[in-house]
Amino acid sequence: MDNREQWGSRAGFILAAVGSAIGLGNIWRFPYMAYENGGGAFFIPYIFALLTAGIPFMIMEFGLGHKYKGSAPKVLAAVNAKYEWLGWVQIMIAGIIAVYYAAVIGWTINYLGFAFDGAWGTDTKGFFFGEYLGLTSSPTELGGIRWPIFGACALTWGLTWLACNSGIRGGIERACKVLIPLLFALVLVFIGRVITLPGATVGLDFLFTPDFSKLADFSVWAAAYGQIFFSLSIGFGIMIAYSSYLPKNADICNNAAMTVFINCGFSMLAGIMIFSVLGSMAHSTGQAVSDVAGAGVGLAFITIPAAINTMPAPLFFGTIFFLCLTMAGVSSHISIVEAVTSSLIDKFGASRQKVVTVLCIIGFALTAVFTTGAGLLILDIVDHFINNICLLFAALVEIVLISWVIGLDGVRNDVNTYSDFSVGKLWAFSLRIITVLVLGYSFFSSLYTKITEPYGGYGMSDLVMFGWSILPLAIVVAIFLQKKQSHKQFQHYS
Ligand code: PHE
Repeated sequence: MDNREQWGSRAGFILAAVGSAIGLGNIWRFPYMAYENGGGAFFIPYIFALLTAGIPFMIMEFGLGHKYKGSAPKVLAAVNAKYEWLGWVQIMIAGIIAVYYAAVIGWTINYLGFAFDGAWGTDTKGFFFGEYLGLTSSPTELGGIRWPIFGACALTWGLTWLACNSGIRGGIERACKVLIPLLFALVLVFIGRVITLPGATVGLDFLFTPDFSKLADFSVWAAAYGQIFFSLSIGFGIMIAYSSYLPKNADICNNAAMTVFINCGFSMLAGIMIFSVLGSMAHSTGQAVSDVAGAGVGLAFITIPAAINTMPAPLFFGTIFFLCLTMAGVSSHISIVEAVTSSLIDKFGASRQKVVTVLCIIGFALTAVFTTGAGLLILDIVDHFINNICLLFAALVEIVLISWVIGLDGVRNDVNTYSDFSVGKLWAFSLRIITVLVLGYSFFSSLYTKITEPYGGYGMSDLVMFGWSILPLAIVVAIFLQKKQSHKQFQHYS
């Protein structure tokens, strides 16, 4: 009776999981986070977080998807019908990310074009906020659609549609088998060239010089854990969905460890890439590396273009950089949309093509809001609340439910039956104690900060509309979906 799709090969599955994990965050978030939180010393909490939370949580999610052969709502309903809602909360978070992540990929596609004609000019900041985004002064003042962004977002959704619509093996696996090796190759080529520029190694010194005093600061450890969860795409129902397409005898532990290590290896490469560029820029402009270091949108669309202006072969560096961002983004976007797709197929028994097509049309329509002059402002609020409240909440409730209420024995038996190395007490301890404590601390302290210091100087009504309302709304819709009649396969999971 089991006609669920399957990955074509083990490498295909790992590349797809890695494709989800490696995203914009590895390139624009990790390097700065490492630099800011102790440089070379940051690798101690980072590796610790990776071993005590990243790999154990990944094994758990792969195990759940593999054992119950379903997306997050189906898996949670299978362990206990009362918990299906949590799966839907995760899927809705994924859906919201899919909408605004597409806008950022749209920007990277536009910038790939600008790398050719140097459209960003010398005032890269003025260009980005002004001419390009047409930024308005408040999130509710939309200011009209920016057509180049709109077009690039249509292309993004089109690519994701193509991959998801063509199925697990014929679409997603095929796309990631090209995208991920190419991404690694391009980053290596980029590094090979940039490292020879004057100042590049000074940049690397900045990144790697250890500041061990930072290790006494608990927030550095919390940052490392936060980065691990976001970077590995765990807690969104994505890895559960991907592993539900594994064959019965798949080696879960090895696959999980490999996915985690490859993702972290890429983060290191991205760190080398970014800080060599910053070092080279600082050298030619006479600034200090610390003056140019940064993260996120500002790094990718303002600082790096300015740095590229100062480098030889700007066309070479510019196209490779934005091509890398685009490829890393698209492979993650595919995984986010697939998490939603597989849940809807599981629940309602509809065809993949129908679900993917409807989802991509609705997703694109919603992304259009982010192509207006207020796009960046709305995105900033939504992204902040998703990362600092919704994701932490969903991962925390998942881990508490599975590791304390339901118990880990079921997953552990499944995982150990087929894996080369088996998991035991240490694994359970990492999940039940370490992960729960760190996630719990991070969630409540983040909630407290958000209440006491309204984020980013936005007005209260904007924060409520685009931030605070997300989680309660997601929970209400999730409860509604849990109550809704399911397709019969949903219960017959075994
Ligand atoms: N893991 C990706 C990154 O590091 C981002 C991502 C988040 C992907 C959520 C899917 C879901 O950028």
